[in-house]
Amino acid sequence: MLAVAILAAGKGTRMRSDLPKVLQPIAGATLVERVLASCGPLAPERTLLIVGHQAERVRGQLSHRSDLDFVLQQPQNGTGHAVQQLLPALEGFEGDLLVLNGDVPLLRSETLEALVAEHRSGGSAVTLLTAELADPTGYGRVFVDADGVVQAIVEHRDCTDAQRSNPLINAGIYCFHWPRLASVLPLLSSDNDQGELYLTDTVAQLNPARHIVVADADEIAGINDRRQLAACEATLQERLRSHWMTQGVSFIDPASCTLSDGCQLGRDVVIEPQTHLRGACRIGDGCRLGPGTLLENAQLERDVRVLHSVVRDCHLAAGVEVGPFAHIRPGSELGEGCRVGNFVEVKNSRVEPGCKINHLSYIGDSDLGARVNVGAGTITANYDGQRKHRTVIGSACKTGANSTLVAPIRLGDGVTVAAGSTLTEDVPAGSLALGRARQINKADWPGPSSAAAE
Ligand code: UD1
Ligand code: CA
Repeated sequence: MLAVAILAAGKGTRMRSDLPKVLQPIAGATLVERVLASCGPLAPERTLLIVGHQAERVRGQLSHRSDLDFVLQQPQNGTGHAVQQLLPALEGFEGDLLVLNGDVPLLRSETLEALVAEHRSGGSAVTLLTAELADPTGYGRVFVDADGVVQAIVEHRDCTDAQRSNPLINAGIYCFHWPRLASVLPLLSSDNDQGELYLTDTVAQLNPARHIVVADADEIAGINDRRQLAACEATLQERLRSHWMTQGVSFIDPASCTLSDGCQLGRDVVIEPQTHLRGACRIGDGCRLGPGTLLENAQLERDVRVLHSVVRDCHLAAGVEVGPFAHIRPGSELGEGCRVGNFVEVKNSRVEPGCKINHLSYIGDSDLGARVNVGAGTITANYDGQRKHRTVIGSACKTGANSTLVAPIRLGDGVTVAAGSTLTEDVPAGSLALGRARQINKADWPGPSSAAAE
């Protein structure tokens, strides 16, 4: 039987943030979500999350996870005090307890599986994950005897100079035999530099305490400050990009691009420099994205091109071309082969296949039939100051340059709108609509005086 406890009650003072540390995001997921994901494949019987600092906020963020038991630690008096809070919740539990710090987001499930397997085969009271670091600053140092049995863990701040030269560090990931841990938890004292109860002090009381050294030290990086957060983000991004490269995605300048875990990319996708994919993007085969593009929760079918644009919460069908400098906003649906060009904004609109919206337009809350040609500078005026209204344009319509369609308004199929028109009334199919002042030319006009002209 396996239970998992994640320590997520700390404030994260060194982050200097209003956000609890475990809610800091990297690559589109919070630290604590990543830790939870790393232990998911172990299918624990129970998962307990110890919350304290801004407990409601942490709980709220994870409210969709009905499998979690939240345990409150108030006040936060150290990692040992945190685990003491589990004593009532795990009363009578006879299995192993995997304890993870909530700020270790790069762990692989395979590493946790190996830790639990080693713990069980060794019959140890506790098995912890360690690493040998070139720069162990800040971590607890692990002291082992000649047989590799762990004798003690001493926090960096409590170490003597000689102890600090030990490169073997505690990753903050432990597999305990719970009944044995439960028997020593009440013995902890706060006789240390921080005056807290340290979980690490239990190992000196537990026999035998063993450790396994993690192969890839990147995995156990703990996040205490913004520099470590940035370093972890870089590691995760590197992992994501190499994964997608093995799946047939090309990056022209990989280091300048970022992805999130939730992205799915097809074969022969090319990601040009300075392109960022966030949230749950789905990118079809053969798409070309960037340079200079941001996509968030965007669903792109195959062979879509997006250049220097921002595309959010929308669906682009096969062969759509966007940009340069377009903004496709939430709720937009662009049909096959549509083209949305320079300085065009599309919001909450359904655009049927083959439409062209090539220059300087705003299309908001609109439905466009197939093959509409939207003239340069066409604006759908969707907001009357109180409410938003829809514009409906039939198929094969053409709007002239600088037309304004004041919603609610409906144009039938095959309508032509004269350049410079402001339309406030519906237009029947097949008509030409003119809504502009007639031009007057006055002959023999004196023109500007030469002084005024300068
Ligand atoms: C801890 C370990 C250290 C190890 C390092 C690995 C202790 C005493 N030290 O140090 O040996 O090298 O992790 O990253 O355990 N937390 C609570 N309640 C509290 C205090 C902390 O839930 O009262 C949580 C924090 O939210 C965090 C985790 O415990 O997720 C670790 O706390 P942190 O203060 O970051 O410990 P470190 O100083 O990094
Ligand atoms: Ca830490």
